[in-house]
Amino acid sequence: MNSICEKDVSAVKEIFRFIQKNHDNPEENAVRDLYDSINLSYDEVGVSFHNLSTAAAQGVLYSAPKKVIAILNEYCSNKDVSILECGAGTGLIGEKLYESGYKNTIGVDFSRKSLDVAEEKGVYKKLVCAEIVPEGMPFRDDEFDILICTGCIAPGHISPRCFPEWTRIVKPGGYVLLLLRKCYVEHQKGLEAFYSKSLGDSFQAEIRKLEISKKWEVVMRQIFPGYVYEGGILSDGVAVVCKVI
Ligand SMILES: C[S@@+](CC[C@H](N)C(=O)[O-])C[C@H]1O[C@@H](n2cnc3c(N)ncnc32)[C@H](O)[C@@H]1O
Repeated sequence: MNSICEKDVSAVKEIFRFIQKNHDNPEENAVRDLYDSINLSYDEVGVSFHNLSTAAAQGVLYSAPKKVIAILNEYCSNKDVSILECGAGTGLIGEKLYESGYKNTIGVDFSRKSLDVAEEKGVYKKLVCAEIVPEGMPFRDDEFDILICTGCIAPGHISPRCFPEWTRIVKPGGYVLLLLRKCYVEHQKGLEAFYSKSLGDSFQAEIRKLEISKKWEVVMRQIFPGYVYEGGILSDGVAVVCKVI
């Protein structure tokens, strides 16, 4: 018998509908309020990825936690690295990091209620409730070895204009790891309704600007299948790893 009720899943699907409808001009605070209202159900659906058949029956899968660990293991031999997770949400990624031996992670997110769920798991060194903005994040220069941002670069969510700030708080030689749905920033057949030209352009431009100014170097860029399966639609993911210079 399934432990996730239909209501929960439809609450999570609300996010995708919201993104589709409010591409470029979401109302102020609308995204934060949405996450505050669905915190627990988001987590249940995400966790369900560990049980493929349950998740498939509900029509929702999320492969990011596994993918993050696979990438980290490739670039990082030391599990004591200090990690900042931008958009930590309910802690799905933090849980997987902790389980995989990465136990020095700070999470930041603007949804207090999502962070309350993350807190319960006891897998973060610290959780900070703050908006992720292009300037003045509450962290020191060169404070982190790794910055991870998964599932948060989306219309109305975290802006690529924050990338320069991320090169300030990640130390030289450290990495910024980005994972997102391809359809938000590039065309994906069948998912054209999700594409945001302004987000796509800004995503490419901000990455390129930091390459040109030698603030970071893109060491990996990959389109991969099966990032998220939701409502009968399988979206590709984009994974980008940048080494801070
Ligand atoms: C789709 S969830 C992803 C959560 C987590 N990274 C994961 O992969 O499960 C997006 C998260 O980003 C947070 N978020 C969106 N925009 C934000 C912003 N500008 N500042 C801080 N958090 C933000 C939301 O509150 C939400 O928890």
